[in-house]
Amino acid sequence: MKPITEQIKEKPWKGWILFLATIVVVFFLGLLASSIIERRTEAVFAYTPKIEHSQWEPRNEVWGENFPRQFNRFLQTEDQSFHSKHNGSAQRDMLEEDPRLVILWAGYGFSKEYNQGKGHENAINDMRNILRTGAPVDGNKSPMPNTCWTCKSPDVPRMMQEVGVAEFYQGSWESLGAEIVNNIGCADCHDAQNMNLRISRPALVEAYQRMNKDINTVSHQDMRQLVCAQCHVEYYFKGEGNYLTFPWDKGTSVEAMEAYYDEYAFKDWIHPISKAPMLKAQHPDFELFQTGIHAQRGLACADCHMPYLNEGGQKFTDHKIQSPLNNIANTCQVCHREETTELLANVYERQDKIKENRDKLEELLVRAHIEAGKAWELGAKEKQMNEILQDIRHAQWRWDFVAASHGGSFHSPIEAGRIISTGINIAQEARIKLSRVLTSYGYNQEVPYPEIETKAQAQKYIGLDIEKLNADKKRFLEEVVPQWDAQAKERENTYETKNL
Ligand code: HEC
Ligand code: HEC
Ligand code: HEC
Ligand code: HEC
Repeated sequence: MKPITEQIKEKPWKGWILFLATIVVVFFLGLLASSIIERRTEAVFAYTPKIEHSQWEPRNEVWGENFPRQFNRFLQTEDQSFHSKHNGSAQRDMLEEDPRLVILWAGYGFSKEYNQGKGHENAINDMRNILRTGAPVDGNKSPMPNTCWTCKSPDVPRMMQEVGVAEFYQGSWESLGAEIVNNIGCADCHDAQNMNLRISRPALVEAYQRMNKDINTVSHQDMRQLVCAQCHVEYYFKGEGNYLTFPWDKGTSVEAMEAYYDEYAFKDWIHPISKAPMLKAQHPDFELFQTGIHAQRGLACADCHMPYLNEGGQKFTDHKIQSPLNNIANTCQVCHREETTELLANVYERQDKIKENRDKLEELLVRAHIEAGKAWELGAKEKQMNEILQDIRHAQWRWDFVAASHGGSFHSPIEAGRIISTGINIAQEARIKLSRVLTSYGYNQEVPYPEIETKAQAQKYIGLDIEKLNADKKRFLEEVVPQWDAQAKERENTYETKNL
């Protein structure tokens, strides 16, 4: 080929084309450079702190001044519009949907009211509104201890700093009503100095210590699930001081935690019909998740519940923590190429199959409680009943472990299925033993199944006066809660922040 200068001499139009092409290229390079610079300034803008606040600042809107993107998405966890087949953030009355739950939890707070979990911005309101916390008016106490606040608010680590951890748990729930007012937020998961993830709840740190593990040396990816494990775990209130404790000393499997509770003969309550010493599983999402394929492939909670978003060239973490099914494109489809409908079907198929057997176990448990009640009525002796009551305790623990781990049927379907099948086995054993006891007292027919088609029927059957509970609650919400909020406002006005 001839040199370019000669080519241009021969055909001048080639020179013009080269000239114009260069102009176009330079123009676009210029555009690109200016856009990069603009985004850089944007990035610097977003990450230059505007305000300095204390390490334990509980008000999310104060942190939000520095990090508006995370804060704005975080606020959207208030949204109650999303409803998947089994989960989501809508108001759903689980006792109305399944009145058998009232029988399983008879004699325990959950039989009064139990709703589908919602987003983090609802935590304080939901707790004030629920019948389980009672109506502490006129000097009456709530049936719940202060320990219940632990998973609801960044005011918790603030108070623990101020009064001490054991002291925080002591006392009944209303005694900290004016202190705990901000919904779950920034200070629960972040260090104010550098925004690193941090563990703010001592119960998790202490559980690690008892397992001879050091929580300060875990990987960054582990922190992306341990911040959730501060709350989305199994726990209990230990001893007179209601000290929040994770039962992980023997391991985190359903059997290991059961053995832990059995060793201490711990019970959450005694079932009034069967007299069984019951355990209430909380929400062992973290524990169950570890046994599933996604954990085994190194994923953390944040990978599906807090995906990356992009805004103005800025990549950031979505703080609208929610069901990933409301955002499959940014969650599952980052790794899986399948269509949305197929991924959705994968999730529902696993959940439906676990639920099929979970419902069978649930019915067996209702029958076992009522048959045990019949046996007592006929004069059964403790010696005859003890083993049966342990079976009921263990079978319902397994049912609850799976039911209360709201994401468990997807997080770890094989383990969830195994737990339910061992539960069915134990419940059937209990009923075989019960039929022997009943026969020994000359009772050899089916014990009638109660009429519990609706929540109201079931609550009536166990003797709850719901109208009174509702009326008391209404008074509490109208008279006491506004005082709590006013006191909190006054206190918060004295917190120091510095504009930078
Ligand atoms: C439940 C725990 C949790 C809460 C509450 C929380 N964050 Fe985060 N935050 C995370 C996680 C997880 C990440 C991702 C960290 C990583 O992978 O490095 C993150 C990342 C961040 C980052 C780093 C930049 C980014 O977007 O990845 C900032 C800034 C941030 N959060 C601000 C906030 C603010 C402001 C609040 C309160 C409005 C808040 N966070 C509440 C867990 C939380
Ligand atoms: C300080 C305790 C606490 C921490 C930390 C926490 N959660 Fe929660 N979470 C809760 C509570 C309490 C609720 C229920 C709130 C309600 O129903 O009012 C909840 C609700 C949820 C829900 C249901 C929301 C919906 O819209 O369906 C999801 C999902 C969830 N959390 C995931 C996470 C993940 C993932 C993390 C870690 C990144 C995390 N949570 C950290 C306490 C916590
Ligand atoms: C960060 C990557 C990542 C994300 C996000 C992710 N997955 Fe996966 N998923 C994996 C990996 C890795 C496996 C294991 C597959 C293997 O190793 O062959 C897996 C396995 C699966 C399986 C098969 C597991 C089984 O039980 O047989 C299903 C179904 C699945 N994922 C669905 C989903 C859905 C639905 C979402 C969104 C809610 C999702 N995944 C999000 C990486 C991811
Ligand atoms: C591979 C993706 C993935 C990972 C990783 C993951 N989850 Fe989930 N999670 C899901 C899916 C899918 C559901 C079912 C959502 C539904 O049914 O609407 C779910 C449901 C939940 C729910 C109930 C949500 C609701 O709407 O009530 C909670 C709580 C939860 N997960 C917590 C966690 C915690 C804590 C971790 C880490 C220990 C974790 N998840 C890890 C995908 C994931």
